[in-house]
Amino acid sequence: MPVTTIEWKNHKIRMIDQTRLPTEEIYFDIDDIEVLAEAIRSLRVRGAPAIGIAGAFGILITVHGYKGSDPLELLKQIKETGDYLNSTRPTAVNLSWAILKMRKRAETLKTGSLEAMRQGLTEEALAIWQEDRDCCRALGRHGAELLRDGSTVLTHCNTGALATADYGTALGVVFAAHEAGKRIHVYADETRPLLQGARLNTWELLNEGIDVTLICDNTAAFVMQQNKIDCVILGADRIARNGDTANKIGTYNVAVIAEKHNVPFYVAAPYSTIDFNLANGSQIPIEERAASEVTDGFGRKTAAEGTNVYNPAFDITPNKLITAIITEHGVIKPPFEVNLAKNKTDV
Ligand code: MRU
Repeated sequence: MPVTTIEWKNHKIRMIDQTRLPTEEIYFDIDDIEVLAEAIRSLRVRGAPAIGIAGAFGILITVHGYKGSDPLELLKQIKETGDYLNSTRPTAVNLSWAILKMRKRAETLKTGSLEAMRQGLTEEALAIWQEDRDCCRALGRHGAELLRDGSTVLTHCNTGALATADYGTALGVVFAAHEAGKRIHVYADETRPLLQGARLNTWELLNEGIDVTLICDNTAAFVMQQNKIDCVILGADRIARNGDTANKIGTYNVAVIAEKHNVPFYVAAPYSTIDFNLANGSQIPIEERAASEVTDGFGRKTAAEGTNVYNPAFDITPNKLITAIITEHGVIKPPFEVNLAKNKTDV
């Protein structure tokens, strides 16, 4: 059974602390927006769909913690919470997508009773959570068709149940193929600097009994040159309407070397990750993170004191390097601008 990454329980957010994996499996409860913001910033909860759900549940903390009696006053507080949570991590569009959904629902409820507002928003947040679970299962099934018995898949960053409400995106494809009886072997990039591949993918895949070989990020070209990789499947934090894709730093490296070695390069993501407001990837904001993630990553100093560091958390892969985008609506091929738009729905 995949892990329950995040849920709404007893008017609190319950989540697994991903910074403690793979050595400790610790769940904790949150009923405070500051604590939630810290959990998102420090990657206790992470992965684009999972932080979107955290944002929606964050609105519920405000809704259920509201002690007044005025729905319009609560609406104002919901907007403030949304703005604050939106500022925690800028790249994954799922966060602002989920918060916008909650705000729009709140707008429709502002003239009713407070109780109706509480109930309506709780339903909306749980629907966002459930929709992500359904999308992951659906895209997993579509993507699994691309894999045969014996396929070898290279992954970058964690895209499993830990990054979503359940099951995962790119790893969801692997899980679905495995459940269909295909033997799949995963080569997992360790994913420096925070090692989501090493810490989280190995943990999830081994829990499901799937073969995984951990490689340093800089081994990816060599394993492709050795013909060990049938395809790359990884996730996305934001996809522009032309298919340009922001994902964990190092994704672009993998795309370039996959093209060089004629290895298909698939992005797996739900439609909530597509930002139709953006024409191309150059408009996607890229989060920069602390230098200490690079210089102090292994519990010791790994660079001389005073070293300059550039630590973007994501990069942009141009659409021309992407073979197809695996979504809940099927496997979308180029031209992405035209084909992604066919399943577009309004928030
Ligand atoms: O910084 P992180 O760990 O939140 O980055 C996550 C990724 O880059 C994932 O690949 C992406 O969110 C897709 S998860 C289904």
